[in-house]
Amino acid sequence: MLKLRAYAKINLGLRILGERDDGYHDLETVFHRIDLFDELELEPSDGISMQCVPEGLPTDERNLCVRAALLLRECLRGEDGVKILLRKNIPAGAGLGGGSSDAAATLLGLVRLWRADIPFRQILGLALKLGSDVPYFLREGSACATGRGEILEYIHLEVPYWIVVVYPGIPVSTAWAYKHLKSASVPAAPAGVVPRASLGDAVRRDMHELRNLNGHLKNDFEPLVFGAHERVERARRALHEAGAGAVHLSGSGSALYGLFTGEEEARAAAAILERDSFVSVTPAHFEPSFQPVEL
Ligand code: C5P
Repeated sequence: MLKLRAYAKINLGLRILGERDDGYHDLETVFHRIDLFDELELEPSDGISMQCVPEGLPTDERNLCVRAALLLRECLRGEDGVKILLRKNIPAGAGLGGGSSDAAATLLGLVRLWRADIPFRQILGLALKLGSDVPYFLREGSACATGRGEILEYIHLEVPYWIVVVYPGIPVSTAWAYKHLKSASVPAAPAGVVPRASLGDAVRRDMHELRNLNGHLKNDFEPLVFGAHERVERARRALHEAGAGAVHLSGSGSALYGLFTGEEEARAAAAILERDSFVSVTPAHFEPSFQPVEL
């Protein structure tokens, strides 16, 4: 049996650059993991099955973990099976990449469990079939992402702030957010122009200048999501009032994160926000610990 952690991410800035011919959008963002993870247990079995704790998520092909297992088995033309147990801590529909991270961990775990001989670039291809954010979660580190989110430049990013993530309990579907962004007049992607990954440079350069950094962390989904959900807008104000130096939306929402310069103020803010929202606190300079365990 194999036990793995699937960490959540936040987006440090998110720019939608334009709509593409394939229905997706070109974007520019920085992915960064936080101290919040799901736990996966993979046990060899005859068929492919799944259990989720707590219950509530679909455990059939609608679940990205099951889809990842089916896709890998098909690619390997194998007959191996797996029993997947997912202990879910990351809220779904929050923009924290929980489903994508679970899918990537399933792929990586199964390659090991099934002793599959498959090149990394092929695993990357499977990951992108599962979702635009899934490739990022195949490797450790933070990353500057462009394209659909799959053109990745991994970087070591030291974040000197305490990060308080708040999920106000309103799931936002990525497809919904992109669809409604359309009406907010996103420009068509200029043909043949590859965006320069300048957001990552700006975030790194101004990491210690919170005021400048705040400008780079702008997320293009913010007007749409704050406008559509009063509860999210209220959580944003609450984070500011609790002393966050910067407050932004992660992904297409509805989770928000606030950056705090000290532990005490971060914990005090979390204690207030926890009264009516899911809250997760990530210490300054946090480094995730992946270490898969074989039992
Ligand atoms: O790739 P993923 O399955 O997460 O995307 C869900 C939906 O979000 C897509 O079907 C697409 O409508 C939209 N999307 C997009 N541009 C991206 C990522 C997602 O338009 N870069």
